[in-house]
Amino acid sequence: MPHSAILNVMIKAARRAGRGLKRDLGEIEHLQVSLKGPRNFVTAADRRAEEVVYEELAKARPGYGFLGEEGGAREGADKSHRWIVDPLDGTTNFLHGIPHFAVSIALERDGTIVAGLVYNPANEDMFIAERGKGAFLNDQRIRVASRQRLADAVVACGLPHYGRGDLALARNEIFAAQQHFAGLRRYGAATLDLAWVAAGRLDAYWERDLSPWDLAAGILLVREAGGFVSDLDGGDAIFAKAQIVAGNETMHRELVRLLKAAAKEPVAP
Ligand code: IPD
Ligand code: CA
Ligand code: CA
Repeated sequence: MPHSAILNVMIKAARRAGRGLKRDLGEIEHLQVSLKGPRNFVTAADRRAEEVVYEELAKARPGYGFLGEEGGAREGADKSHRWIVDPLDGTTNFLHGIPHFAVSIALERDGTIVAGLVYNPANEDMFIAERGKGAFLNDQRIRVASRQRLADAVVACGLPHYGRGDLALARNEIFAAQQHFAGLRRYGAATLDLAWVAAGRLDAYWERDLSPWDLAAGILLVREAGGFVSDLDGGDAIFAKAQIVAGNETMHRELVRLLKAAAKEPVAP
């Protein structure tokens, strides 16, 4: 399938970074047994991946700004365009040799996300979308799932780390979801959770405490696949509140309703 020039640039950057990450994943197994463990190695792999992505994107579009998880913000001469990049989403999975992680690249034009890519180097799933042009997985058009009954739905969520986030609130939300959906999942890579909603693998997804690089590409994928996204109150302050609910129209609406009710429940100590 022929892609636009901008998608070609993004795909090339993601594939190159992905090749490095895949090689590095192969090393992890050896490092698991060493005393120092693989944590430093993973941090280095993460930084390398971001540099590769930056290098490729900057070569093709020298003036664009860049916001990456590892290196932070880099100003560009072109103030309209900015890349938003998570070079390795799903770090904990990667650290454990779990082949569920991704490179995520989004392009923002005057504050609107116009292109998004999420790539899992382990199985080479390449999710891409451009504003107004639909969403694709490995060049096949994708749509959000059409399921309407909560009792048939599989839903993913995030879990706050111990000592971070609001554990009691998360327990209430999970309890509420467990009572209505067929299955709950925690996969550990927010960008892939959103891409999987776009592809109809997951019926819905919600998570709190996310960063722009976890969200930007996935939001466009879900919207271009015909899905709905909002903050947990159903509003559009996704980035400001750092949280998201995604799904088809019904699942999205129902999940927002459940989560709002759960947030009002008294919390167990
Ligand atoms: C994390 C993953 C995870 C989500 C965390 C993110 P990272 O990103 O997306 O699924 O629950 O909130 O920070 O640290 O692996 O890039
Ligand atoms: Ca991330
Ligand atoms: Ca990351």
